[in-house]
Amino acid sequence: MTPLQGTPLQGTPPHPRATSPGLEVTDLTVRYGGHLALDNITLEAPIGRLTGLIGPNGAGKTTTFNACSGLLRATTGRVLLRGNNVTRRGPAARARLGLGRTFQRMELFTSMTVAENVALGREARVAGSNPLRQQISTPKRRAATRSATAEALELFGITKLADDSVGLLSTGQRRLVELARVYAGGFDLLLLDEPSSGLDHAESEKLSAILRGLVENHDIGILLVEHDMAMVMSVCDYLYVLDFGELIFEGTAAETQASPIVRAAYLGSEEGLAEIAADHEAREAAEVV
Ligand SMILES: Nc1ncnc2c1ncn2[C@@H]1O[C@H](COP(=O)(O)OP(=O)(O)O)[C@@H](O)[C@H]1O
Ligand SMILES: [Mg+2]
Repeated sequence: MTPLQGTPLQGTPPHPRATSPGLEVTDLTVRYGGHLALDNITLEAPIGRLTGLIGPNGAGKTTTFNACSGLLRATTGRVLLRGNNVTRRGPAARARLGLGRTFQRMELFTSMTVAENVALGREARVAGSNPLRQQISTPKRRAATRSATAEALELFGITKLADDSVGLLSTGQRRLVELARVYAGGFDLLLLDEPSSGLDHAESEKLSAILRGLVENHDIGILLVEHDMAMVMSVCDYLYVLDFGELIFEGTAAETQASPIVRAAYLGSEEGLAEIAADHEAREAAEVV
């Protein structure tokens, strides 16, 4: 059981969406040698919900991502993907079950074009770990790749950049390419590690709208690690808060902002959650006027 629970989806009336099981993490503990990095974490990121994972530096967010995607074995605990127990399975098996991920440090091929990078997302997913399938490309498969690529470029608003070399793009544009690539892979659960890092305010707003669209219109579930608190508070349906490897709170954005426990955890940290939350409220009020 988790320590404190709010009510799921309270932050999204008047149109609550149906969710289905996506990522379910139960009693997850991770130790690095003697260091307890995650202590008995239980959380879920269902399909159809934008779930945030926040916490001060060193809280265990990246460790959680690594344990969910299979890069890291949990010391104890269980990870389910759409009902399948993947606790003992590696990253490739988890990807086959629909789990896609982006990294804080982008891993794009800078000498290739935008379209080629996005197409690779699709190809990697289709081929999986079978070396034969990686070499054989049928006309049908090429056509499917082309249409998946076109759809992803369109969705992320980067169709006009299709033939540009990724090396020449701005950080904001590269973020969109990275997201389009993981989207083209056809994953239904996305772990996004600080997708707004390096983006300006306008780009973050655009990204927020795109992420909302993925969850609301494309049957995707997202688990979002993000430092931009204004973005987190405006975009997430539900939040989990980690501190020193422990889950200290879960609830809607409003419940999280109001929580004295959460505010205390951020005291002295750079972000100063209280300040950022106030900033977010002020900005929203300004937009309403
Ligand atoms: N490979 C590692 N070996 C040992 N300790 C680590 C390793 N990775 C992270 N840690 C420690 O585990 C804790 C959680 O780290 P991390 O998951 O990276 O936090 P966050 O992403 O929230 O900033 C920190 O105390 C960090 O120093
Ligand atoms: Mg981290």
